[in-house]
Order: sequence, then structure tokens, then C-alpha cells
Amino acid sequence: MKNQQILDSIAELPRIKLARLCTPFEETPNLRAAIAESMDADIDAVPRIFFKRDDATGFAFGGNKARHMEFLFAHLIGRGFDTIVNINHYHSNQARFVAAASAKTGLKCHMVAVDMLDAPVVGNLLIGHLTGAEIHRVPGEYSRSVAEKLVEEENGNGRKATVLSDNDFSDIAGMIGFVETGIELDAQTSDADLGGAPLRFWGLVGRSIAGVRLYARNTGKPWSASATAYSHTQPDSYEAIYIDRSTRVAELLGLDTALEPSDLDTITGYQGSDYGVPHDGVFEAIHMVAKAEGILLDPNYTGKSMSALIGEIRAGNLDPDTPIVFIHSGGLPQTFAYAQQLWDWGSD
Ligand SMILES: Cc1ncc(COP(=O)(O)O)c(C=O)c1O
Repeated sequence: MKNQQILDSIAELPRIKLARLCTPFEETPNLRAAIAESMDADIDAVPRIFFKRDDATGFAFGGNKARHMEFLFAHLIGRGFDTIVNINHYHSNQARFVAAASAKTGLKCHMVAVDMLDAPVVGNLLIGHLTGAEIHRVPGEYSRSVAEKLVEEENGNGRKATVLSDNDFSDIAGMIGFVETGIELDAQTSDADLGGAPLRFWGLVGRSIAGVRLYARNTGKPWSASATAYSHTQPDSYEAIYIDRSTRVAELLGLDTALEPSDLDTITGYQGSDYGVPHDGVFEAIHMVAKAEGILLDPNYTGKSMSALIGEIRAGNLDPDTPIVFIHSGGLPQTFAYAQQLWDWGSD
């Protein structure tokens, strides 16, 4: 399939401009050298590493979900909703983007922030507040009933409210955004003299890496993709989820094919004890990338995927001749939720 056909299909979808696109693409040679040095190995033992800088989407602190929200909010507004009730974790970046996109589009937003009720107001929660969301901090088991009650109350007051996760489109909007990212990457990898070369894309279990792989599959690019798990429940269900979602995206965009089981390599062993609990490898990765390149990673997502990349390189599991494209999907506000641990790391 040709890029223009894909662009034409995407252009037919309702969309609201939120992100600054196209995001930068850059090689990180100092990081490559730092990894080689940490292994006491020659530079050639480490693949070249490029970053797709979706931390630089420029909306509400940046991150991949600015792309997702462009399609999702146009869809919700098209269905007449004026109030969004969103349920997600204390650490959630999605929650920040839903709050910010609501502000930008004039919708009312309730942010049901689940668990960690006594954790300080920093990062995503703070940005939710700054962008005007009403915040409700509740234990996980009550989140659904609290959200439903909010919808009922808002509807009783003459508004049109919805619990965001009840809208199927929220599952696929992000993958659509990242099929388009594939087109940006096609041009950027060609400019870096990587056109036609086998590349390994590196990201997190989710819609974004699946969207890039879906693009590659439909355009015949020799791009493989690795998705790092960041919680223990993910690996079992991810394959079924990305196949189902890619089937829906393929139908919507008129793509030739959806994803197949072998299209994504799920990387496990780097989740740490739980979601939102960074381990030593994450702190090492954040320090290493910041010192080598002046690029910041976050402790819940991109720090985990970088710790996986470093770990897999050290274990000799990656072909050093296949360049890596690391999808930097953002998440930076939560860095400040771990300020003391990041400060203390490596000091003894
Ligand atoms: C910063 C960041 N990167 C990656 C992900 C993975 O999911 P997705 O690709 O669906 O955004 C998340 C999920 O919340 C995230 O917050």
C-alpha cells in the first residue's frame, strides 16, 4: 500500500489539531557509547539507536497521547458529548491528556484518579487540576460506581456525559495516530539513510508500537517491533488485544491487512514488582540517557522500556547490525513523583 492511500483515509476522519507534528527523529550516539562502556564492550556490539521524540508533541507537557486525542476528541464531540468522565490511575498520562484535551475543546472533564490516595499532588494530577478537571480520588473498587454517578448527575443537569472507556473508539484512536507516525518515520528513516533497511522499533505494550507495526506491515517495510510490558497482567492479553484493535483500524482505514500474532515481540522481565514501581534498571536507564544525551525518560513507561533495551543488548539478545528506533512516548510529568528516589539513586 502507498503512503498517500493511508493519508487519504486518515484525512477523512474527524480530527482536532492538538499535537505539533512531525516530531523529531534523532540518533543518540552518546547513549550507544555509554551502553557499550557499561558492558565493557566494543561500540560495534551495540546497535545504533535512534529516538522518535514523541515526548515533543508539545501539548500539555508532550507525549504520544496528543496524537490519540486528536481523533478521540473529534469523535466524542461528533457524538454530542460535552462532559467526559475518565477513570485512570494516579500515575496516568492518559488522564492528563483527557483533561487537557477537554480544556482545549471546551468540554467538562471529571478525572476519577484511582488508588494511591495519599500520594502527593504532582505531575499528571496537578496538570489535570491546572487544566480545569474536577478531580475525584477514589479506591479502585469504587471507581466505576463513582464514574457512573457522575454521568447520572451531569445528565440530570442537562449535560451529555459519558464514561470515556465505554466508547470503543478510545481503544483504537491511538493506533490510528501511530499508523500516521509510520509515515513520518518512513521519511525520517530515509533521510537518515536507513530507507529499506531492517529496523527494530522499541516501545511499550500499547497502541502506539502496534500502530507503527501495522503501518510497516501494510507498506512492506522490514521493520520489526518490540513492546516492553510494564505490568504483570499485560503479556497474556496483549496479542489478542492488538489483533482485535488492528482489525478494527484496518477496516476503518481500508488497509490491506491487520496484525498477526508474530508481528509484535512482547518483552517481559522488566516490569519490576508492579505498575508504577520503578526498579533499579529504570533508575539506571533514566540517569544514563539524561547524562549521555540530555534526554529525559519517565519512571513508569519509557524508563522501563529503556531498561529493557539496555538489558536485552547486554544479554546479547539483539542483532547489533539492526538499528533500534526507540519510541519516546513521553510520560515526563511523573518524573517528579519519584524525585527523591531519582536523586538518591547511585549515591552510595
Ligand atoms: C508514556 C506512555 N507511553 C506508552 C504507553 C503505552 O500505551 P499506548 O501506546 O497505548 O499509549 C503509555 C500508556 O499509558 C504511556 O503513558
